[in-house]
Amino acid sequence: MKALVYRQFGPPEVIKIEDVPTPEPKEGEILVRVHASTITAVDTFFRMGKPFSARLAAGLTKPKIHTQGTEFSGVVEKVGEGVTRFKVGDKVMGEPGPNFGAHAEYVVIGQDGVILHKPESLNFHEAAALPAGALTALPFLRDTGRLEAGQKLLVIGASGSVGSFGVQFGKYLGAEVTGVCSGRNVELVTSLGADHVVDYNLEDFTKNGLKYDVIFDAIGASSFGTCRGSLTSRGVYMSTTISFSILFNHLLTAKSSGQRGLISFTGLRAKEEKKKDLELIHALAEEGRIKPYIDKVFPMGDAVAAHAYVDKGRKRGNVVVSFV
Ligand SMILES: NC(=O)c1ccc[n+]([C@@H]2O[C@H](COP(=O)([O-])OP(=O)(O)OC[C@H]3O[C@@H](n4cnc5c(N)ncnc54)[C@H](OP(=O)(O)O)[C@@H]3O)[C@@H](O)[C@H]2O)c1
Repeated sequence: MKALVYRQFGPPEVIKIEDVPTPEPKEGEILVRVHASTITAVDTFFRMGKPFSARLAAGLTKPKIHTQGTEFSGVVEKVGEGVTRFKVGDKVMGEPGPNFGAHAEYVVIGQDGVILHKPESLNFHEAAALPAGALTALPFLRDTGRLEAGQKLLVIGASGSVGSFGVQFGKYLGAEVTGVCSGRNVELVTSLGADHVVDYNLEDFTKNGLKYDVIFDAIGASSFGTCRGSLTSRGVYMSTTISFSILFNHLLTAKSSGQRGLISFTGLRAKEEKKKDLELIHALAEEGRIKPYIDKVFPMGDAVAAHAYVDKGRKRGNVVVSFV
Protein backbone atom coordinates (compact mmCIF):
# COMPACT_ATOMS: atom_id res chain seq x y z
CA MET A 1 0.00 0.00 0.00
CA LYS A 2 0.99 3.63 -0.27
CA ALA A 3 1.60 5.57 2.93
CA LEU A 4 2.80 9.02 3.92
CA VAL A 5 6.13 8.41 5.63
CA TYR A 6 8.61 10.68 7.44
CA ARG A 7 11.94 9.46 8.80
CA GLN A 8 13.40 12.72 10.07
CA PHE A 9 12.05 15.90 11.68
CA GLY A 10 11.82 18.88 9.38
CA PRO A 11 9.80 20.97 6.90
CA PRO A 12 6.79 19.60 4.99
CA GLU A 13 9.14 18.08 2.37
CA VAL A 14 10.22 15.35 4.81
CA ILE A 15 6.83 13.75 4.11
CA LYS A 16 7.20 11.23 1.25
CA ILE A 17 4.86 8.72 -0.35
CA GLU A 18 6.32 5.21 0.08
CA ASP A 19 5.22 1.68 -0.72
CA VAL A 20 5.00 -0.18 2.59
CA PRO A 21 3.52 -3.60 3.50
CA THR A 22 -0.26 -3.58 3.91
CA PRO A 23 -0.98 -4.54 7.53
CA GLU A 24 -2.77 -7.84 8.22
CA PRO A 25 -5.58 -7.79 10.79
CA LYS A 26 -4.87 -10.19 13.68
CA GLU A 27 -7.48 -11.73 15.96
CA GLY A 28 -10.01 -9.08 16.99
CA GLU A 29 -8.66 -6.54 14.51
CA ILE A 30 -10.11 -4.79 11.47
CA LEU A 31 -8.37 -3.63 8.31
CA VAL A 32 -9.86 -0.36 7.08
CA ARG A 33 -9.43 1.05 3.57
CA VAL A 34 -8.85 4.66 4.53
CA HIS A 35 -10.94 7.18 2.58
CA ALA A 36 -9.84 10.28 4.46
CA SER A 37 -7.76 11.51 7.36
CA THR A 38 -6.71 14.95 8.60
CA ILE A 39 -3.53 16.94 9.04
CA THR A 40 -3.80 18.42 12.52
CA ALA A 41 -1.63 20.94 14.35
CA VAL A 42 -0.31 17.97 16.37
CA ASP A 43 0.79 16.20 13.16
CA THR A 44 2.79 19.24 12.10
CA PHE A 45 4.41 19.67 15.56
CA PHE A 46 5.40 15.99 15.50
CA ARG A 47 6.74 16.37 11.95
CA MET A 48 8.85 19.40 12.91
CA GLY A 49 9.87 17.99 16.30
CA LYS A 50 8.94 21.47 17.58
CA PRO A 51 8.17 22.73 20.14
CA PHE A 52 10.67 20.54 21.97
CA SER A 53 7.86 19.04 24.10
CA ALA A 54 6.65 17.32 20.89
CA ARG A 55 9.84 15.23 20.91
CA LEU A 56 8.91 13.69 24.25
CA ALA A 57 6.13 11.91 22.36
CA ALA A 58 7.44 11.81 18.77
CA GLY A 59 11.05 10.77 19.47
CA LEU A 60 14.07 12.64 20.83
CA THR A 61 16.36 12.68 17.78
CA LYS A 62 14.19 11.16 15.04
CA PRO A 63 10.56 10.08 14.68
CA LYS A 64 9.70 6.79 16.42
CA ILE A 65 6.59 6.30 14.30
CA HIS A 66 6.93 6.94 10.59
CA THR A 67 3.31 7.24 9.48
CA GLN A 68 1.16 9.84 11.21
CA GLY A 69 -2.59 10.21 11.26
CA THR A 70 -4.75 10.46 14.37
CA GLU A 71 -8.18 10.01 12.82
CA PHE A 72 -9.75 8.39 9.80
CA SER A 73 -12.87 7.44 7.91
CA GLY A 74 -13.07 4.51 5.55
CA VAL A 75 -14.55 1.13 4.68
CA VAL A 76 -13.83 -2.20 6.38
CA GLU A 77 -11.72 -4.23 3.94
CA LYS A 78 -11.00 -7.34 5.99
CA VAL A 79 -11.66 -8.61 9.53
CA GLY A 80 -9.51 -10.82 11.76
CA GLU A 81 -10.76 -13.89 13.62
CA GLY A 82 -13.33 -13.21 16.32
CA VAL A 83 -14.48 -9.84 14.97
CA THR A 84 -18.20 -9.51 15.57
CA ARG A 85 -18.83 -5.76 15.71
CA PHE A 86 -17.92 -4.92 12.12
CA LYS A 87 -18.09 -6.66 8.77
CA VAL A 88 -16.49 -6.18 5.38
CA GLY A 89 -18.04 -3.19 3.63
CA ASP A 90 -19.04 -1.28 6.80
CA LYS A 91 -18.39 2.47 6.64
CA VAL A 92 -16.44 3.49 9.74
CA MET A 93 -14.57 6.32 11.44
CA GLY A 94 -12.22 6.42 14.38
CA GLU A 95 -8.83 7.01 15.96
CA PRO A 96 -6.10 4.38 15.45
CA GLY A 97 -4.56 5.10 18.87
CA PRO A 98 -0.97 5.58 20.03
CA ASN A 99 0.57 3.99 16.91
CA PHE A 100 -1.20 6.50 14.62
CA GLY A 101 -0.95 5.28 11.00
CA ALA A 102 -4.09 6.80 9.43
CA HIS A 103 -2.04 8.61 6.75
CA ALA A 104 -2.03 5.51 4.56
CA GLU A 105 -4.29 3.60 2.23
CA TYR A 106 -5.00 1.04 4.97
CA VAL A 107 -4.98 1.10 8.75
CA VAL A 108 -5.52 -1.66 11.30
CA ILE A 109 -7.51 -1.14 14.50
CA GLY A 110 -8.92 -3.46 17.18
CA GLN A 111 -12.69 -3.88 17.16
CA ASP A 112 -12.65 -2.64 20.78
CA GLY A 113 -10.69 0.47 19.80
CA VAL A 114 -11.99 3.97 19.15
CA ILE A 115 -14.00 3.02 16.05
CA LEU A 116 -17.68 3.38 15.22
CA HIS A 117 -19.83 3.22 12.14
CA LYS A 118 -19.68 6.46 10.17
CA PRO A 119 -22.58 8.81 10.93
CA GLU A 120 -25.03 8.75 8.02
CA SER A 121 -25.29 12.53 8.17
CA LEU A 122 -21.59 13.09 7.41
CA ASN A 123 -19.62 12.38 4.25
CA PHE A 124 -16.23 10.62 4.47
CA HIS A 125 -14.31 13.91 4.65
CA GLU A 126 -16.44 15.22 7.51
CA ALA A 127 -16.42 11.89 9.36
CA ALA A 128 -12.60 11.78 9.25
CA ALA A 129 -12.48 15.20 10.90
CA LEU A 130 -14.90 14.36 13.71
CA PRO A 131 -12.97 12.28 16.28
CA ALA A 132 -9.78 14.14 17.27
CA GLY A 133 -11.00 17.73 17.68
CA ALA A 134 -14.28 16.68 19.29
CA LEU A 135 -12.54 14.19 21.63
CA THR A 136 -10.34 17.09 22.78
CA ALA A 137 -12.93 19.84 23.24
CA LEU A 138 -15.61 17.75 24.95
CA PRO A 139 -13.53 16.41 27.88
CA PHE A 140 -11.80 19.77 28.33
CA LEU A 141 -15.11 21.61 28.77
CA ARG A 142 -17.15 18.92 30.53
CA ASP A 143 -14.52 17.24 32.75
CA THR A 144 -11.66 19.71 33.28
CA GLY A 145 -13.67 22.94 33.12
CA ARG A 146 -16.86 21.42 34.59
CA LEU A 147 -18.78 23.82 32.38
CA GLU A 148 -22.40 24.14 33.49
CA ALA A 149 -25.55 25.32 31.77
CA GLY A 150 -25.97 29.07 32.08
CA GLN A 151 -22.27 29.74 32.60
CA LYS A 152 -20.25 32.07 30.41
CA LEU A 153 -17.58 30.44 28.23
CA LEU A 154 -14.86 32.16 26.20
CA VAL A 155 -13.17 30.10 23.48
CA ILE A 156 -9.84 31.44 22.17
CA GLY A 157 -8.97 30.07 18.73
CA ALA A 158 -12.66 29.46 18.01
CA SER A 159 -12.01 29.09 14.26
CA GLY A 160 -9.50 26.24 14.60
CA SER A 161 -10.24 22.55 14.85
CA VAL A 162 -10.42 22.17 18.64
CA GLY A 163 -11.91 25.65 19.08
CA SER A 164 -14.68 25.13 16.53
CA PHE A 165 -15.75 22.01 18.44
CA GLY A 166 -15.30 24.00 21.68
CA VAL A 167 -17.92 26.51 20.53
CA GLN A 168 -20.34 23.74 19.54
CA PHE A 169 -19.88 21.72 22.77
CA GLY A 170 -20.17 24.93 24.79
CA LYS A 171 -23.62 25.41 23.31
CA TYR A 172 -24.47 21.72 23.76
CA LEU A 173 -23.58 22.03 27.47
CA GLY A 174 -25.86 25.06 27.77
CA ALA A 175 -23.28 27.84 28.14
CA GLU A 176 -23.35 31.37 26.77
CA VAL A 177 -20.44 31.19 24.34
CA THR A 178 -18.08 33.91 23.15
CA GLY A 179 -15.59 33.01 20.43
CA VAL A 180 -12.31 34.86 19.90
CA CYS A 181 -11.12 34.89 16.28
CA SER A 182 -9.91 37.21 13.52
CA GLY A 183 -12.31 39.25 11.39
CA ARG A 184 -12.21 36.80 8.47
CA ASN A 185 -13.61 34.09 10.75
CA VAL A 186 -16.39 36.01 12.53
CA GLU A 187 -19.05 34.62 10.18
CA LEU A 188 -17.78 31.05 10.61
CA VAL A 189 -17.67 31.23 14.42
CA THR A 190 -21.17 32.78 14.50
CA SER A 191 -22.43 29.97 12.26
CA LEU A 192 -21.06 27.43 14.76
CA GLY A 193 -23.46 28.85 17.35
CA ALA A 194 -21.37 31.42 19.25
CA ASP A 195 -23.58 33.98 21.02
CA HIS A 196 -20.87 36.64 20.81
CA VAL A 197 -17.69 36.99 18.79
CA VAL A 198 -14.59 39.04 19.63
CA ASP A 199 -12.38 39.97 16.69
CA TYR A 200 -8.98 39.98 18.35
CA ASN A 201 -7.67 42.55 15.88
CA LEU A 202 -10.33 45.05 16.96
CA GLU A 203 -10.82 44.26 20.63
CA ASP A 204 -8.74 42.90 23.52
CA PHE A 205 -11.07 40.73 25.61
CA THR A 206 -8.76 41.10 28.62
CA LYS A 207 -9.51 44.85 28.64
CA ASN A 208 -13.28 44.99 28.04
CA GLY A 209 -14.26 44.30 31.67
CA LEU A 210 -16.29 41.16 30.90
CA LYS A 211 -15.87 38.04 33.08
CA TYR A 212 -16.15 34.37 32.17
CA ASP A 213 -16.68 31.23 34.24
CA VAL A 214 -14.53 29.22 31.84
CA ILE A 215 -11.89 30.40 29.40
CA PHE A 216 -10.80 27.69 26.98
CA ASP A 217 -7.66 28.59 25.05
CA ALA A 218 -7.77 25.97 22.31
CA ILE A 219 -4.55 27.15 20.61
CA GLY A 220 -2.27 28.40 23.39
CA ALA A 221 -2.44 32.07 22.36
CA SER A 222 -2.80 33.41 25.91
CA SER A 223 -1.80 32.60 29.48
CA PHE A 224 -3.50 32.17 32.84
CA GLY A 225 -1.78 35.37 33.98
CA THR A 226 -3.16 37.53 31.15
CA CYS A 227 -6.66 36.01 31.46
CA ARG A 228 -7.09 36.09 35.25
CA GLY A 229 -8.73 39.51 35.18
CA SER A 230 -11.38 38.12 32.79
CA LEU A 231 -12.27 35.18 35.05
CA THR A 232 -14.98 35.15 37.69
CA SER A 233 -13.75 34.62 41.27
CA ARG A 234 -13.97 30.82 40.85
CA GLY A 235 -13.32 30.83 37.12
CA VAL A 236 -11.28 28.21 35.28
CA TYR A 237 -8.71 28.96 32.58
CA MET A 238 -7.67 25.99 30.41
CA SER A 239 -5.00 25.66 27.77
CA THR A 240 -4.59 22.77 25.33
CA THR A 241 -0.94 23.71 24.83
CA ILE A 242 1.87 22.71 27.15
CA SER A 243 4.09 25.46 28.59
CA PHE A 244 6.10 25.92 31.76
CA SER A 245 3.57 28.56 32.86
CA ILE A 246 0.45 26.38 32.55
CA LEU A 247 2.16 23.36 34.16
CA PHE A 248 3.28 25.54 37.08
CA ASN A 249 -0.16 27.14 37.47
CA HIS A 250 -1.88 23.76 37.20
CA LEU A 251 0.21 22.44 40.11
CA LEU A 252 -0.40 25.61 42.07
CA THR A 253 -4.16 26.04 41.52
CA ALA A 254 -5.69 22.64 40.64
CA LYS A 255 -7.03 22.14 44.19
CA SER A 256 -7.80 25.81 44.80
CA SER A 257 -11.33 26.99 45.52
CA GLY A 258 -10.55 30.25 43.69
CA GLN A 259 -9.42 30.85 40.12
CA ARG A 260 -7.64 27.94 38.49
CA GLY A 261 -5.33 27.56 35.50
CA LEU A 262 -5.43 24.00 34.15
CA ILE A 263 -4.09 21.79 31.40
CA SER A 264 -5.31 18.37 30.41
CA PHE A 265 -3.93 15.69 28.10
CA THR A 266 -7.10 14.38 26.52
CA GLY A 267 -5.23 12.39 23.88
CA LEU A 268 -3.86 10.11 26.62
CA ARG A 269 -7.27 9.01 27.91
CA ALA A 270 -8.18 5.32 27.96
CA LYS A 271 -9.69 4.04 24.72
CA GLU A 272 -12.84 2.97 26.60
CA GLU A 273 -13.45 6.56 27.75
CA LYS A 274 -12.78 7.91 24.27
CA LYS A 275 -15.07 5.39 22.65
CA LYS A 276 -17.91 6.23 25.05
CA ASP A 277 -17.47 9.92 24.22
CA LEU A 278 -17.28 9.18 20.50
CA GLU A 279 -20.67 7.45 20.82
CA LEU A 280 -22.11 10.68 22.22
CA ILE A 281 -20.36 12.74 19.53
CA HIS A 282 -21.70 10.37 16.87
CA ALA A 283 -25.25 10.80 18.19
CA LEU A 284 -24.89 14.60 18.26
CA ALA A 285 -23.56 14.54 14.69
CA GLU A 286 -26.56 12.47 13.57
CA GLU A 287 -28.86 15.02 15.24
CA GLY A 288 -27.07 17.80 13.39
CA ARG A 289 -25.89 19.43 16.64
CA ILE A 290 -22.16 18.93 16.01
CA LYS A 291 -20.51 19.26 12.62
CA PRO A 292 -16.85 19.39 11.66
CA TYR A 293 -15.97 22.39 9.51
CA ILE A 294 -13.81 21.44 6.53
CA ASP A 295 -11.41 24.10 5.30
CA LYS A 296 -9.60 22.28 2.48
CA VAL A 297 -9.28 18.78 1.08
CA PHE A 298 -5.93 17.69 -0.38
CA PRO A 299 -5.30 14.48 -2.33
CA MET A 300 -2.68 12.16 -0.81
CA GLY A 301 -0.21 13.26 -3.50
CA ASP A 302 -0.40 16.85 -2.19
CA ALA A 303 0.40 15.97 1.43
CA VAL A 304 3.43 18.28 1.44
CA ALA A 305 1.21 21.21 0.45
CA ALA A 306 -1.32 20.17 3.10
CA HIS A 307 1.38 20.20 5.81
CA ALA A 308 2.65 23.58 4.58
CA TYR A 309 -0.87 24.98 4.79
CA VAL A 310 -1.43 23.70 8.35
CA ASP A 311 2.05 24.98 9.35
CA LYS A 312 0.79 28.55 8.85
CA GLY A 313 -1.47 28.16 11.89
CA ARG A 314 -4.38 29.80 10.07
CA LYS A 315 -6.48 26.84 9.00
CA ARG A 316 -10.20 27.11 9.59
CA GLY A 317 -11.56 24.00 11.28
CA ASN A 318 -10.04 20.95 9.67
CA VAL A 319 -7.72 20.06 6.78
CA VAL A 320 -8.52 16.72 5.18
CA VAL A 321 -6.32 14.40 3.12
CA SER A 322 -8.11 12.04 0.75
CA PHE A 323 -6.66 8.53 0.19
CA VAL A 324 -9.08 7.34 -2.50
N1 LIG B 1 -3.89 18.92 25.41
C1 LIG B 1 -4.34 18.02 24.56
O1 LIG B 1 -4.68 16.90 24.93
C2 LIG B 1 -4.47 18.37 23.09
C3 LIG B 1 -5.15 17.51 22.23
C4 LIG B 1 -5.28 17.90 20.89
C5 LIG B 1 -4.73 19.10 20.45
N2 LIG B 1 -4.04 19.87 21.33
C6 LIG B 1 -3.45 21.16 20.90
O2 LIG B 1 -4.51 21.99 20.53
C7 LIG B 1 -3.98 23.05 19.75
C8 LIG B 1 -5.01 23.51 18.77
O3 LIG B 1 -5.05 22.76 17.63
P1 LIG B 1 -6.03 23.11 16.45
O4 LIG B 1 -5.87 22.02 15.44
O5 LIG B 1 -7.39 23.43 16.95
O6 LIG B 1 -5.39 24.46 15.91
P2 LIG B 1 -5.59 25.09 14.49
O7 LIG B 1 -6.84 24.58 13.87
O8 LIG B 1 -4.33 24.94 13.72
O9 LIG B 1 -5.76 26.64 14.88
C9 LIG B 1 -5.71 27.57 13.88
C10 LIG B 1 -6.78 28.64 14.08
O10 LIG B 1 -6.42 29.50 15.17
C11 LIG B 1 -6.73 30.85 14.79
N3 LIG B 1 -5.84 31.78 15.52
C12 LIG B 1 -4.50 31.99 15.32
N4 LIG B 1 -4.05 32.90 16.20
C13 LIG B 1 -5.09 33.27 16.98
C14 LIG B 1 -5.24 34.16 18.09
N5 LIG B 1 -4.22 34.86 18.57
N6 LIG B 1 -6.46 34.26 18.67
C15 LIG B 1 -7.51 33.54 18.22
N7 LIG B 1 -7.44 32.69 17.16
C16 LIG B 1 -6.24 32.55 16.55
C17 LIG B 1 -6.48 30.87 13.29
O11 LIG B 1 -7.24 31.84 12.61
P3 LIG B 1 -6.67 33.35 12.42
O12 LIG B 1 -5.20 33.22 12.23
O13 LIG B 1 -7.40 33.92 11.27
O14 LIG B 1 -7.03 34.00 13.71
C18 LIG B 1 -6.95 29.48 12.86
O15 LIG B 1 -8.32 29.47 12.47
C19 LIG B 1 -2.64 22.55 19.20
O16 LIG B 1 -1.61 23.30 19.81
C20 LIG B 1 -2.57 21.11 19.68
O17 LIG B 1 -1.25 20.74 20.03
C21 LIG B 1 -3.90 19.53 22.63
